[in-house]
Amino acid sequence: MNEQLYIDGAWRKPVSGQTIPVVCPSDGKEFARIARGTAGDVDAAVAAARRAYEGPWGKTTALERGRLMMKVGVKIAEHAEELAQLEARDTGKPLKQARADMVAAARYFEFYGAASDKVHGEVIPFLAGYTVMVKHDPRGVTGHIIPWNYPAQMFGRTLAPALACGNATVLKPAEEACLTVLRITELVHEVGFPPGVVNVVTGYGEEAGAALASHPGIDFIAFTGSPGVGTLIQKASAEHHRACVLELGGKSPQIVFEDAPFETALPVVVNAIVQNAGQTCSAGSRVLVQRSVYDRFMGMLAERFARLRVGTHDMDLDCGPLISAVQRDRVQGFVQAARKEGVPVLAEAQLAPNLPAGGYYAAPVLFGNVPPTHTLAREEVFGPVLSAIPFEDEADAVRIANGTPFGLAAGIWTRDGTRQLRVANAMRCGQVFVNGYGAGGGIELPFGGIKRSGHGREKGLEAMREFSVVKTIVINHG
Ligand code: NAI
Ligand code: MG
Repeated sequence: MNEQLYIDGAWRKPVSGQTIPVVCPSDGKEFARIARGTAGDVDAAVAAARRAYEGPWGKTTALERGRLMMKVGVKIAEHAEELAQLEARDTGKPLKQARADMVAAARYFEFYGAASDKVHGEVIPFLAGYTVMVKHDPRGVTGHIIPWNYPAQMFGRTLAPALACGNATVLKPAEEACLTVLRITELVHEVGFPPGVVNVVTGYGEEAGAALASHPGIDFIAFTGSPGVGTLIQKASAEHHRACVLELGGKSPQIVFEDAPFETALPVVVNAIVQNAGQTCSAGSRVLVQRSVYDRFMGMLAERFARLRVGTHDMDLDCGPLISAVQRDRVQGFVQAARKEGVPVLAEAQLAPNLPAGGYYAAPVLFGNVPPTHTLAREEVFGPVLSAIPFEDEADAVRIANGTPFGLAAGIWTRDGTRQLRVANAMRCGQVFVNGYGAGGGIELPFGGIKRSGHGREKGLEAMREFSVVKTIVINHG
């Protein structure tokens, strides 16, 4: 099944006849292969989705769709351990993270399955003798392109709201990691979705991904990944006058005021950057600390950072390897450049001894006194690298926090209730946490960015707005 594509309710070989190696990041060794889907396969998938949408799927009730989806949630939960083992091996993430991911993946199908028959329209008062209804129609055929950092979670996050709204879907997962996507697709098949409702075409971004993004037969596309590819997706969407939702990462700040609850903040600030080896769109990659407590807080943070342990996915430590050699070199490039320029390293974690030589390891690094204008403070590293920036007062904190090209999430740490709300309101981003940080969590919570972090919202009931279109029906019954 790994070396095949799921199109029109069946597994089939790609047109290219070729496969792509799948490597375990913990040791750099190939352990599987996936199909190299290309434009011809995408054509077949889009055509199958269209037939499903115009055929049996378009006639299902919201209740029927919801029940099928809930069954997927149950199946994922039943296979959670098997899926977690597979996800850990495929991505290199520690097993405990992979296990948490499966809980979330199942939750997406439960949440949106239960929501599918609760999307109500409106009746608008209009002229005498008229009734005006506003209803939410599906978009039609939706395209989905997801990254490698949370393949199983992303499958649920992008497909579940689309299916709940009644769309037929074509998904292109990331070539670096998608084995759980394929396995969950088998589970989707088992619960009995009609053929063509879910189609999965694996392959390279520039081939299968580009073909899907520019396909005239889709009605909408949801993309999560890099800002550069996000631009390509939006351009392709513009060509066809269609909308898209883009989630393109961030440079999210944790703002620690002098009255912050340090003991609560410390483990959360550490986890927000170390979770998934920093390869999380909402990673808390900057920590802004008020000058009056900077040395004290940073001392405690550095101590925790230095104690972090890095190992293979099945050693299940704090941090695993990065996804690929490319990603590791990219992260190390940021670290080496900053070191060379004299940005102080406050702590560096250790790799476990005797790790497999071919693995893509990068030790978590904590940089101190990073100038807000520095690359480290502005660009997404997508690795376990935390940049600390001192600030003077609230206005300074807000200015620095908002002073990057991104705007995805923020964490605010203070006991002062009025300040909590003032600063939360001042944040130019899509999600704000106060005295906590839930990177990746919260299926119920609308999530997405502004500026270079993208636009549109996923998660929560908001996602169902993206995957539907409003239709106004005006009836003159005199
Ligand atoms: P990417 O944007 O190339 O990959 C994401 C998805 O887009 C994959 O499925 C890929 O196959 C697809 N894709 C690539 N080129 C495409 C194209 N021309 N047309 C259509 N689809 C295409 O991201 P990449 O190269 O894996 O990572 C580079 C950087 O992007 C990371 O270092 C990180 O900073 C950022 N990133 C952010 C993510 C997030 O969660 N916001 C996820 C992945 C990467
Ligand atoms: Mg790429």
